[in-house]
Amino acid sequence: MGVREDTERDITVSVKTRTGYDKDITEEWTRTLNEAEPDFISLHARTFKQAYEGNADWEAIRRAANVSKVPIIGNGDVKSPEDIQKMFKLTGGKGVMVGRGAVGKPWVFGGEGFKLGGVETGGSRLGPLNQTVALEHAKLYVKFKGEKRFYEMRKHLMGYFAGFRGAKGLRVKMSKVSCLKDVVEQLTVKQLRG
Ligand SMILES: Cc1cc2nc3c(=O)[nH]c(=O)nc-3n(C[C@H](O)[C@H](O)[C@H](O)COP(=O)(O)O)c2cc1C
Repeated sequence: MGVREDTERDITVSVKTRTGYDKDITEEWTRTLNEAEPDFISLHARTFKQAYEGNADWEAIRRAANVSKVPIIGNGDVKSPEDIQKMFKLTGGKGVMVGRGAVGKPWVFGGEGFKLGGVETGGSRLGPLNQTVALEHAKLYVKFKGEKRFYEMRKHLMGYFAGFRGAKGLRVKMSKVSCLKDVVEQLTVKQLRG
């Protein structure tokens, strides 16, 4: 049965998956998923067993795109706009999903903004863009999700603070924040002003 046969609602239904459990069964699995008629399939090109080990196998994305009737969105190890172009070219997929490449760098999606992020964060001290975007991100998190599970923000906040003097200390602090106020406090301590 297709995924939308039992609903009147016009919603998009997609599947996020991997190439297999402990071995790559991409083609067989993609065909099976196609039977459920999702709107698209996002494929993280590693097996479940691999977790995040080794390189993502973009060739598997190409094989999935070859056998799939629904669009394949490629995922795994995309870190730059150049990688996005490379993945499109190699795989014939219809889209690209960025995971870790966007953690602490949401401007990766903004074309020129990606370069701006690089400039601002590449110096020897904390770039103002990191602070501004990290704080905005934390505020938006609270606006949409409340503060109960604010710990979910820790990994993102840690991602914003790398590559400058004193970054490690700040990352350690961000790994312990429990609310928006904690973040504001850490970003306004004296050492960061100069
Ligand atoms: C912080 C973080 C949270 C993630 N949460 C989920 C999740 O909730 N569901 C999921 O299917 N994958 C999740 N993933 C996996 C990513 O969607 C993606 O498949 C994986 O990171 C590989 O892509 P990448 O190499 O671009 O990071 C998460 C990854 C990261 C880094």
